[in-house]
Amino acid sequence: MIANMGVEHNEQIGASAGNPGQESTAGTARPSGAFRREVFFVIGGASGLGAATVEALHDRGTVVVAFDRVAPKVALPGVEFRLVDVRDAAGVEREMQDALERVGAIDGFVYAAGVLDGHAYLGETNEELLDLVLDVNVKGAIRVARALAPSMCETGYGRMVFIGSIAGTVAGAGGLPYTVSKHALTGVVKSLALEFADRGITVNAIAPGAVSGTNIATGVLDQMVGSLPGERSSESIFGQPAHKLHPVGRLGTVDAIVPSILHLLSPQSWFITGTSLAVDGGYTAR
Ligand SMILES: NC(=O)c1ccc[n+]([C@@H]2O[C@H](COP(=O)([O-])OP(=O)(O)OC[C@H]3O[C@@H](n4cnc5c(N)ncnc54)[C@H](O)[C@@H]3O)[C@@H](O)[C@H]2O)c1
Repeated sequence: MIANMGVEHNEQIGASAGNPGQESTAGTARPSGAFRREVFFVIGGASGLGAATVEALHDRGTVVVAFDRVAPKVALPGVEFRLVDVRDAAGVEREMQDALERVGAIDGFVYAAGVLDGHAYLGETNEELLDLVLDVNVKGAIRVARALAPSMCETGYGRMVFIGSIAGTVAGAGGLPYTVSKHALTGVVKSLALEFADRGITVNAIAPGAVSGTNIATGVLDQMVGSLPGERSSESIFGQPAHKLHPVGRLGTVDAIVPSILHLLSPQSWFITGTSLAVDGGYTAR
């Protein structure tokens, strides 16, 4: 379903999109000539890191299509928004294909859809919770990549960026489904990076530490604080110095994360693939 169809780039893009037949330049060359604007899809673009990425890309004059299961609170004029639930495989395929047809080709996508698990310990997990967290955080990411990879292969260029987490490399007690899902996402990134390495497509994750100001930020803090011995409440972090969690002594902000996402979306990042870039104030350096 489409909302806010403010995109007036069809002819512009359709005329020059794609560059099939071009020899691989290891992902340095964008798929078109000088007159084509860059085009990005942001999945989970209604709030938090996804919404901030949409805004940053829009500010830079690129064409952005945002996808989410809920509409953004504030619609950006000129940004196309599509409702999609990433748990719905057929819906993901349909919406991605439809959006691709409108824009012709994309330069890259950001997968920022994600859910938490209420910091569940083993005995608190059930099938429903496991299914939800793995479906959104892992299977949805694969569904989106599967829908968009063929078009990137055709143009010989693409940037896939997934929002992982420090929970993709380290764990604490509890938060089991979320930690498993983010570790799995690290595997998705490595596997896809190798599958598409010779097609001009790079595949990476950004692995943020706790970022304040997003919808799931408090829950992320709960996960992290809950994993510390003797502490079970996120409130303690506000009473205690934040450097207990992050060596830099502050929580992250969306503004501290988005530039790294933009870099991984850029042509200049062509030699970075298969990695999870920690943007975590030193959290995983210990
Ligand atoms: N905020 C943090 O501290 C933090 C830290 C590390 C990693 N992350 C990761 O960053 C990503 C973005 O989270 P955020 O902090 O911006 O939170 P957020 O809740 O603001 O954003 C998540 C977005 O995903 C969307 N979403 C959830 N389920 C969906 C579904 N089934 N289909 C489509 N969209 C769906 C939500 O509607 C929401 O817009 C997540 O993967 C999260 O795990 C966040």
